[in-house]
Amino acid sequence: MTLRKTLIVWLILTAAHLSAQDRLRPITVNLIAEPRTVQILPGDSTSVWSYTGSSEGGGRQSLGFLPNSHLGPTISAMQGQQIKIKLTNQLDQPTVTHWHGLDVPADMDGHPAYAFPTGESYSYSFTISNRAGTYWYHPHPDMATADQVQMGLAGFFIVHDRNELALNLPSGAADLPLCIQDRTFDSANQFVFNPSMMHGFFGSLVCVNGQPNYVQNVGSRVHRLRLLNGSTSRIYKLAFSDGTPMVIIGNDGGLLATPNTKPYLMLSPGERAEVWADFRGKPLNSEIILQSLSFSGAGMNQGAALDVMTFKIVQQVTDNRSLPANLSSIPAYNLWEAVNASNPKSYPITQANGHYVINGASFSMEYVANNEVARCGTLEVISVSNPQGMMHIAHPIHFHGRQFQILDRTVVPSSVANWNTVKDGYNDSGWKDTFMLMPGETVRILVRHGKNPGLFNYHCHNLVHEDMGMMRNFRLNP
Ligand code: C2O
Ligand code: CU
Ligand code: CU
Repeated sequence: MTLRKTLIVWLILTAAHLSAQDRLRPITVNLIAEPRTVQILPGDSTSVWSYTGSSEGGGRQSLGFLPNSHLGPTISAMQGQQIKIKLTNQLDQPTVTHWHGLDVPADMDGHPAYAFPTGESYSYSFTISNRAGTYWYHPHPDMATADQVQMGLAGFFIVHDRNELALNLPSGAADLPLCIQDRTFDSANQFVFNPSMMHGFFGSLVCVNGQPNYVQNVGSRVHRLRLLNGSTSRIYKLAFSDGTPMVIIGNDGGLLATPNTKPYLMLSPGERAEVWADFRGKPLNSEIILQSLSFSGAGMNQGAALDVMTFKIVQQVTDNRSLPANLSSIPAYNLWEAVNASNPKSYPITQANGHYVINGASFSMEYVANNEVARCGTLEVISVSNPQGMMHIAHPIHFHGRQFQILDRTVVPSSVANWNTVKDGYNDSGWKDTFMLMPGETVRILVRHGKNPGLFNYHCHNLVHEDMGMMRNFRLNP
């Protein structure tokens, strides 16, 4: 080998070695939850609450910043990487942060019992065991989660792993985290939060990454959209205005086994989906609107048709990539493997004292009912039902720390007509941590409990319902 060739080989090997090491070096992040003033609309600036962040030491590129956004920094990490996050509370009220979708120890999970006061900090530290996926973080204090999220506290938490990186999916400017939230502004451009106890909050403007009328300039190539419904209550039925197919490649818990093309995608609060958005062949300056289509029977204010955001083709590029036929491997759970196969846990949604409850009672900080206890590592079947009562409302149901499989959905005959307006958009394959439950519907899930013992939450992710007590604990015993 010539000296020059040797040198080049040495450089390549060293670079590959360094980047692999760099990716797994522990990450240290400082987050501050604090009030800020930002320009969102023309005219007066808006008071928001933001996570502001910085990183220290290793973990190069572990923090990304959404352009021109008051949402929190995007935390990126590799599966297996260790992360330390010091959160300082500069709000005028207690807070605590939950890493939605990640499997972490009980005292790292943002249970409301760990809310801490103004001026103090909490040090989170955990190793990321989750597979590659689009996770997120947001506050979780008892009875104040909706207010704090609505004020702007939320951010993406993106995990990569080796299998996913090997697929070479669109990256860089073609990998777009998009957080959808509805807001209302008053005449002085300040946020208005005026929820109804039964239905929740419905804003008059849809924002993406904190901005209304969001326009994303793109090249005519394939994009990986990481869609997050970060709204307090609003459910979206997403489709592209020009008929670009909704090719779904990922879910709450990361890549599906194989891509799945749907006529539209239902995304209820807390849920995520990754979409292979193929803009090849679109003419220069054309605009593609991501719309929410109408649907019925999910509750008052739900299901209005609206525009979410616009993609504008500003550059013609060639892009020869092809959609991988296989995205990841997902072992299927079987009902007969569940320790309670013949006796599913049953958590119906009912009403008590004028608001919704799950499993019979409102949230209380430490209380766990007999049917909310499980052993670490066991596979269980859980049935969550939304019987037709006085009110017909859809609820997004979320379990902390778990990625589960949807076993089946059933619906009572009187609800079928409404259910038919959403069912083709359920993104139920792969791993889920949150699912939408229509009135009259029952969903059975297969859940493998994790190795971390302790107290965790499950709840409705309509954050107004959560704050009203539509939340419970489950306890994992070693
Ligand atoms: Cu994103 Cu307890 O939830
Ligand atoms: Cu969660
Ligand atoms: Cu609810």
